[in-house]
Amino acid sequence: TWRLTWLSLLGSAAYLTYEVYKEVNPSPQIPQSPLKPNGNRRKTVVILGSGWGAISTLKHLDTSLYNVVVVSPRNYFLFTPLLPSVPTGTIDLKSIIDPVRTIAKSTPGEVTYLEAEATDIDIAKKQLTIQHSSYSATSGVHHVTIGGDEAKPIVATIEYDYLVFAIGAQTATFGIPGIEKYAYYLKETDDAARIRRSLFETIEASQLLPKDSEERKRLLSVVVCGGGPTGVELAAEIKDYIDEDLSRFVPGIENEMSVTLVEALPNVLNAFNHKLIEYTESIFEKQQLDLRVNTMVKKVDDKNVYATVKKSGGDTENVTIPYGTLVWATGNGPRPLTKAVAAQIEEQKTARRGLLIGEHLLVDGTDSVFALGDCTFTKNPPTAQVAHQEGIYLASHLAKLSKIDDLKYEIGQNTDPEQLVRLQRRLDRTQASILPFKYTHQGALAYIGSERAVADLVWGDWSNVSTGGSLTFLFWRSAYVSMMLGVRTKILVVSDWIKVKVFGRDCSKE
Ligand code: FAD
Ligand code: NAI
Repeated sequence: TWRLTWLSLLGSAAYLTYEVYKEVNPSPQIPQSPLKPNGNRRKTVVILGSGWGAISTLKHLDTSLYNVVVVSPRNYFLFTPLLPSVPTGTIDLKSIIDPVRTIAKSTPGEVTYLEAEATDIDIAKKQLTIQHSSYSATSGVHHVTIGGDEAKPIVATIEYDYLVFAIGAQTATFGIPGIEKYAYYLKETDDAARIRRSLFETIEASQLLPKDSEERKRLLSVVVCGGGPTGVELAAEIKDYIDEDLSRFVPGIENEMSVTLVEALPNVLNAFNHKLIEYTESIFEKQQLDLRVNTMVKKVDDKNVYATVKKSGGDTENVTIPYGTLVWATGNGPRPLTKAVAAQIEEQKTARRGLLIGEHLLVDGTDSVFALGDCTFTKNPPTAQVAHQEGIYLASHLAKLSKIDDLKYEIGQNTDPEQLVRLQRRLDRTQASILPFKYTHQGALAYIGSERAVADLVWGDWSNVSTGGSLTFLFWRSAYVSMMLGVRTKILVVSDWIKVKVFGRDCSKE
């Protein structure tokens, strides 16, 4: 047994060293050029976005087959599953981001990255208008950073042969008054920083007020709206933070501070097995996390959330929930550019929640625009798992399209009948190898607080396991680490967890 243990330890160490070496020393890349080695024109693939869909496509694509251009206002990939751990400092922001340029460097062919957002797409001309803008770490909005506010943005036009549209979604506000002005979201890195700042500003301000003051109570109330996985995980993380760490620095704060989770439906985590929903709700009760189900938010102002509660008899009651920090996590809505693209295409007339795509991820009504991830509306849920699998599929699909294009070119150049028969057979085989995208659901995981998680796992078509508790928490952690893109971020995340276990989370505003 000892020998086996040593051997497996040595094997793991060697594998880790190899992975680190590969990450630090990427192989030289094939430069971009107008022609391929066989003389055929090298087509241009423009990838819009740097999230799950875009980066999964980029990482799995043989980038030597195309001139690849990545356009995104965010010059890094964000590992969203661990974003709810950032506002409380359980995870450091830098531990869950990978620069686009680093990822691009690890692919076989040279990739161009442009920090810009697409503002317009001319589908007929296969042309994009892009504008230099950066996802700002201070203001949190896409803005022009060169030359100040008065300057004209730098605008460019680029052409594509294939467009990979992976711009994600934005948080849906359903037009509810006050949300855009007063609530924080949890979608991007800056959202996490803003939530943390608000938590500390309200805590520090409350200390100036007498203990029995209503205003002090309001400031110390954290309200999270939306009982999907984002809202549940964030509320659980904040409650942990208050009970485990803030209480050491501000004695008694754990009794004064409240965390309220507001959900319009009768339950939280509606996509999970019913057993796990009950388990989550029982853990919340134990943690004294104030769960308000059947409570639909109608309006918010600078101090209060106004909601309607559906009673068991069918009656409704209006309630007011005062808040110091308000987070809005009620799911996705389409970005303006997605709506603008849909508006250009007849086949997208019914597209309300995202672009409609076919079985090869081609946008209905186009012959060269692929779309994946949260900007589409399909039978699959808007998750990282789906966008990731779609990216892998699309990379292999694009490789096949390149091969078909090359074979057609070679057939056009060739006069030898024997060669032509051989090439035609290869072309037929490649065309026949194109299969539709098929999503394989591997399950869903969510952190619910007090070092507990819930998991709805699926192994193939034959086995479903629903489990919750501390062991599931360990599984949750290892599953997320294994999903991370690089060895560097895996190491950083594990060391963050160790750091928090040893020293606890700190209580600085930043
Ligand atoms: P995104 O990852 O959002 O990427 C969109 C990209 O497009 C960004 O880089 C953005 O900057 C860029 N962009 C935006 N506008 C433009 C433009 N005009 N031009 C060019 N680029 C543009 N899913 C899971 O499966 N498991 C989880 O545990 C999980 N946890 C989550 C936790 C949180 C807090 C959140 C918010 C989501 C979580 N999800 C999870 C969902 C998952 O993150 C999304 O489904 C996934 O990010 C979708 O990938 P995407 O590529 O479509 O969009
Ligand atoms: P969601 O769509 O899953 O949940 C939003 C919730 O907000 C719903 O339960 C809805 O009933 C509620 N809601 C809507 N309007 C409301 C109102 N006015 N008042 C009160 N409640 C209201 O959204 P979420 O959590 O942002 O997730 C988006 C996607 O990302 C989902 O597909 C989810 O599965 C995925 N995700 C997965 C995670 C995981 O697997 N751990 C973590 C976070 C997100």
